[in-house]
Amino acid sequence: MISLSPNLQAKLVAPLKIGSVAVNSRVLQSPLSGVSDLVFRRLVRRYAPTSMMYTEMANATEVHHFKAVPKIMEIDPNEQPISIQLFDCRPDFIAEAACKAVAEGAQTIDINMGCPVNKITKKGGGSSLLRQPEVAEAIVKAAIRAVEVPVTVKTRLGWDDREITILDFAKRMEDAGAAMLTLHGRTRAQGYNGSARWEWIGRVKEVLSIPVIANGDIFSVESAVRCLEQTQADGVMCSRGTLGYPF
Ligand SMILES: Cc1cc2nc3c(=O)[nH]c(=O)nc-3n(C[C@H](O)[C@H](O)[C@H](O)COP(=O)(O)O)c2cc1C
Repeated sequence: MISLSPNLQAKLVAPLKIGSVAVNSRVLQSPLSGVSDLVFRRLVRRYAPTSMMYTEMANATEVHHFKAVPKIMEIDPNEQPISIQLFDCRPDFIAEAACKAVAEGAQTIDINMGCPVNKITKKGGGSSLLRQPEVAEAIVKAAIRAVEVPVTVKTRLGWDDREITILDFAKRMEDAGAAMLTLHGRTRAQGYNGSARWEWIGRVKEVLSIPVIANGDIFSVESAVRCLEQTQADGVMCSRGTLGYPF
């Protein structure tokens, strides 16, 4: 039997407000490259009908150069709530892709600022934006100018243990107008190894007014509750924990 504090009980029954979008679940399903397609999302939604789901990250440069919207941005008109995730280092390309994402039916636009993969970071996208906060800020502002739906950010603690910059970075994203921050409690250097450091998520939660979603090592109901109690985050995002275990 899992016991919840009165605070958490009250939070769990209240909708999660992502800017103008209210979501009736505090458990979100993360974007997973090569996994989060329509079929996967339908499967997860069977067990989590009200959860916010994400497409895997789409490359805004590709969206700019190709006429057709990439398959990974396609969503079912009946699927809600749904966010399309974009990555790039060019604010103008992000703005253009955000417009196309909204035309596809996205209820929010999420910007990936956490991907640790070299192929992405060496072009200035994903977690390398943690080292270029002024570009990250310009991206958020450009997306907000381009679309009316809320723009959110998903990121990590920092580049490595010597550069844990998340407190300043998160505040900067909020000040730029981000409607929610999802924080994976690992650095870029950690990749997917070691433990997610939830204590940093708690610190970020203390300094932001927008919703903060905790991500990293949510592999069970028990861990989700522990994480929410420890961090006071506004919700949890499941990720590898859902693979092969969508319920
Ligand atoms: C195979 C795989 C693909 C991923 N693809 C994305 C992605 O497209 N966008 C993103 O923001 N994060 C992506 N992630 C990161 C996850 O969303 C999540 O932040 C990370 O796995 C930490 O959560 P966990 O410890 O519960 O797995 C990916 C992770 C994995 C393992």
